[in-house]
Amino acid sequence: MVWMVEDGFVEGLHVLNDGASGLRGVVAVHSTALGPAAGGCRFWCYADQQDLVTDAIRLARGMSYKNALAGLPFGGGKAVLQRPGTSFDRDALFRAFGNAVEALGGSYVTAEDVGTSVADMRRVRTGTAYVAGLETDGGAAGGDPSPWTARGVFESMAAVADILGLDLSDSTVAVQGAGNVGGHLARLLARAGARLIVADVDAARARALAEELGAEQVAADAILTAEADILAPCALGAVLNDATIPALRIRAVCGAANNQLEGDRHGELLRGRGILYAPDYVVNAGGIINVCAEYLGEQTGEVEARVGQIAPRLREIVRLAGEREQPTNQVADALAREAIASARRLAA
Ligand code: NAI
Repeated sequence: MVWMVEDGFVEGLHVLNDGASGLRGVVAVHSTALGPAAGGCRFWCYADQQDLVTDAIRLARGMSYKNALAGLPFGGGKAVLQRPGTSFDRDALFRAFGNAVEALGGSYVTAEDVGTSVADMRRVRTGTAYVAGLETDGGAAGGDPSPWTARGVFESMAAVADILGLDLSDSTVAVQGAGNVGGHLARLLARAGARLIVADVDAARARALAEELGAEQVAADAILTAEADILAPCALGAVLNDATIPALRIRAVCGAANNQLEGDRHGELLRGRGILYAPDYVVNAGGIINVCAEYLGEQTGEVEARVGQIAPRLREIVRLAGEREQPTNQVADALAREAIASARRLAA
C-alpha cells in the first residue's frame, strides 16, 4: 500500500481495531504545524482497507489545507471508520472511538462528517474532551456544523454567479446529495429564488426535498449531466473525473463535498472546458469554523465573521487564478501549503 499524498507523508496514521465494539478504521493526522489536527469522523462502508486508508489520508490533507486557508489555529486530520455490514451496537462503537481519540492525547480533535451525527459525538464525549459538534447554550458557538457549511457554500455560490454575470435568482443549480448540507443549501437557494434540480441515491430523501421546495428531482446517475448554471456536489468525493468532466453541462462547480476532484489534474480539465471550479475546501469551511470555535469556547458572532470571509477568499483565489492562468485548485493548494510551511518555519 502507498500511504502518501502528492505533497508528502502524513504525520501519523493510527489504526483503530476494537473487537468488542466492532470499531475498525484509522485516524489520519496530516499536519499539526498550525495546531491540533481537526477534522470530522466519517462512518461509511468501504470495499477494503486500502480504500478506507486512502480516503482518510486525502480527507486529512484537505482538512489541513481547509483549516490553514480559513486562518484557524488547527492542523488537519480525519477519522474514517468502517460501517459494520451486519447489526452493531452504535453506542458501544462510538464510545470506543472516543477512547481511541483520547489515547491520541489531543493531537486530533473530532466532530461529525458523513454518516455521523450530534448523537454520535455525545457518545464520543463519554471518552474524550477532544470532540466538538455537540449542543451548546446561548450565544456560544457549537452544535451541528452543516448549516454553517451550507451558508459558506451559499455565499460562495452567490459570488460565483456574480463572476459569471448571473444572479442566483435567475440561475439553475443542480444539487447532488440531499443530506445535511445539501438540504440546508437547497433551502437557502430556494429562498434566493434559484431554480433547483436535486438528486440523491436515497431517492425518497431527494423526493421529500424536491416536494418541500418545488424543485425538479432527477435520478442519482443523471445529476452530473443535468443542464444547469452551477453544479453543487454535496455527496461524496471524486465526482469530477475523466469520465464525468467531458459530460458536464454547467458553467461552474460550487458545493460542499470534500475531495470533489478525483485528482489534482482534474482542476485543469475543468478549466480547459471553461468551467469555473470553486475549490471545495475553500467554500465548505463553515462547518469546521463552527467546530473549532466550539472547541475554543468562542461565540457565534465569531463564527459568523469567519464564515463571512469565505466568499471574499474565493473571489481572491479566482482573481489570482485568472492572473496566473492556473486552475483555481492549484492556486488554493499553493496558498495553503505556504501558510503551513510558514507556520513550520516559525516553529523551527
Ligand atoms: P450526509 O450524509 O448528511 O449527506 C450526504 C448525502 O449524499 C446522503 O443523503 C447520501 O444518500 C447522498 N449520496 C451519497 N452518494 C450519492 C450519489 N452518488 N449521488 C447522490 N447522492 C448521494 O452528509 P453531509 O454532512 O451533508 O455532507 C455532504 C458532503 O459535504 C460530504 O462530502 C462531507 O464530507 C462534506 N462536508 C460536510 C460538512 C458538514 O458540515 N456536514 C462540512 C464540510 C464538508
